Amino acid sequence: MSPLAGRCLACARPREAVFASMRELYPFNMPTAEERERMLKNRRAWGLRASVHLNSDFYDLASFKQGRNSLRPIEQEELGDVRGRSLLHLQCHFGMDTLSWARLGARVTGADFSEEAITAARSLAAELGLEAHFIQANLYDLPDVLDEEFDVVVTTYGVLSWLPDLDAWARVVARFLRPGGTFCIVEIHPNWGFIDEVDGKIKVTDSIFRSDPWETETVETYTDGPALEPHKEYNWPWTVGRLVTALINAGLRIERLRELPIDVRQRVPSMVRSDDGFWRLPGDPLPLMVTCVATRPI
Ligand SMILES: C[S@@+](CC[C@H](N)C(=O)[O-])C[C@H]1O[C@@H](n2cnc3c(N)ncnc32)[C@H](O)[C@@H]1O
Repeated sequence: MSPLAGRCLACARPREAVFASMRELYPFNMPTAEERERMLKNRRAWGLRASVHLNSDFYDLASFKQGRNSLRPIEQEELGDVRGRSLLHLQCHFGMDTLSWARLGARVTGADFSEEAITAARSLAAELGLEAHFIQANLYDLPDVLDEEFDVVVTTYGVLSWLPDLDAWARVVARFLRPGGTFCIVEIHPNWGFIDEVDGKIKVTDSIFRSDPWETETVETYTDGPALEPHKEYNWPWTVGRLVTALINAGLRIERLRELPIDVRQRVPSMVRSDDGFWRLPGDPLPLMVTCVATRPI
């Protein structure tokens, strides 16, 4: 074995010690070069998706332009009245939800790494005459380009599996909250990464303790519309425990955590739509969504 095994090639100190001191110097930009490479591939995937999503029935931009609020009751209940509050929406896609918060009276900033999505968000805001600030940046680089603190930081529906490092993510969240500010996440439950329906039955298909990302070669997205160019995507597994621990380690106080047996769309054939418009598995065997509200102590 090389005498430098497990050691930094530049200074020969143990690699973990070097990482620990780097973490202090660069608290936000922690993903490794390999993870960054994978996120670049994901950015391309999201560029392809954004163009299709903008014209999809799923997002129904036409009714949004006529005044529809694209937010769901869950995030509105969690955050309450946002009038006059400054709000940062992380991973905002092409800004429909961000602009819905603006319509409810918040002073909004949306951030996303997809150029196509952010260009569309800016032109949507201009077309609708809504005041909003949109920033194109990888989430981990946002502290380099945005120097503000917000009353509210929010992120929703399909965000965490695109992020390789939850601890660094939580530090970014905390960085943008003013003391006393509120963070809210409403997310697809990570269970969906580990289960599937096989012959009409829900089965566990992967280990919840898995740590390496899934690599998918695909032409699909979750909306209607044409097939995408073939491309690769990477998704990282996470758990509710790791989410909560990352937020606590970043200095936030957890106010509430809810695991819900409902979903915003049908992910497997046996799901049925209930009167409230949400989808459920018969008998509610598992949580399908998770919400968490945390605050930055004063
Ligand atoms: C499923 S969408 C979020 C859904 C959004 N709430 C909606 O329905 O419009 C995930 C978003 O995360 C963004 N994203 C993925 N990885 C990112 C990263 N590392 N930095 C910033 N944005 C990222 C994608 O561009 C995409 O817009």
